[in-house]
Formats: sequence, C-alpha cells, structure tokens
Amino acid sequence: MAKPRIVVLISGSGSNLQALLDSPDLGGEIVLVASDTPDAGGLARAVDAGVPATSVRLADHPDRRTWEAALQDQVAAVRPDLVVLAGFMKILSGTFVSTWPTVNVHPSLLPAFAGAHAPADALEWGVKVSGVTVHYVDEEVDHGPIIAQRAVPVLDDDTVATLHGRIQQQEHILLPEVVAAICAGRVTRTGRRVTIAPA
Ligand code: GAR
Repeated sequence: MAKPRIVVLISGSGSNLQALLDSPDLGGEIVLVASDTPDAGGLARAVDAGVPATSVRLADHPDRRTWEAALQDQVAAVRPDLVVLAGFMKILSGTFVSTWPTVNVHPSLLPAFAGAHAPADALEWGVKVSGVTVHYVDEEVDHGPIIAQRAVPVLDDDTVATLHGRIQQQEHILLPEVVAAICAGRVTRTGRRVTIAPA
C-alpha cells in the first residue's frame, strides 16, 4: 500500500520539519513543504532533503481569502492525506483545515497559553509546568482535539529562550510519534477524545 502523503506547512526555522524528515519510521512521505514566507529557514531543510518546497506570501495577494486559496491550490495539487502545521504562524480558515486531516504542534499544554507567544505567556503567568501539545486543527485557534501532550518543567532561572528550547526538544520527539501513529492508522477520534493504539 502507498504511504500516506504528508504536506508540512512552516513559517520559521523548521526544526520540527527536520525532526519529521529525520524520523526513520514516519510511515508517510513528505511530498511538499510550504511556507507563508520565502525567508523561512525550513525551506532549505526541505530542499536539502529533496522535498519540493514553495512559499505563498500573503503580501503577494489582495486579501487573506485569495492568499489561502492559492496556498490551498498548491496543497491540493499534491493530494495529501495529512497536513502538518509545524510552526506555521498564520491562521487558516475552517474550509482549509476541514479539507484534509490537519494537525498542529503547539509549545504549551493547551488549553493554557494558546496563541503565538506561548512560552513567554507561560513564564509571565508563573506556571511551574508547561509543555507541548499536538492537536487536530479546527476552525478556532489552538482549539481542536488534543492527540498527545508532554509536560516540561519551568525552571526558576528559565528565560523564554531556555524554556522554549526544552519544549522544542519534546516537540521533536512527540510530533514524529503522533504523525507516525496517524500514518499507521492507530489514532481514533471520537468528538474531542482522541486515543492512540499501541504500535
Ligand atoms: C515551535 O516551537 C512550535 O511549537 C511553535 O513554533 C515553533 C516553530 O519552530 N508554534 C507555535 O507557536 C504555534 N502557535 P520550528 O520552525 O523550529 O519548528
């Protein structure tokens, strides 16, 4: 049977993309990496791995709707089975995220600290434990059913960079695990409850 086809959307350095590219048993094929900016460092990681890479800039389109339609056309062209948001910092419409199963990696234990500054928000709030969440994406920001989480302690001398760095170490383990489980058909979703069957 053909491997599930995966599209990864990025905006930044792409360290989570790299973890997916490096995973020996992902069980799926990354067929496209797309970014909302040509400056995303992760695009070079895709090229180095021989994966087609593209960017679709909001600034090159008259409005958000046409930008998203252009991105959606590029994604649709490669017929994905799964879309992974790996540090993709633009909000996608309900139409986009319901077209394909879409998952996101987020640097906090949702529903705490949704949004673009989760490690800073966690530090400022003074929580003693934060972490990483991998969740299905729905039409609300950082809201869809949670697939897996890992806790990361907040240390007394943490800065945003040190906390985010330790969270990212866990992201790089958890995201490939979840993608592999989805590719293997081991993930079941019933309403908001998601379970992962053992490998
Ligand atoms: C990751 O830490 C990811 O959790 C976060 O952006 C970073 C991207 O890093 N995403 C969000 O904050 C989404 N709300 P990367 O480009 O090195 O993978």
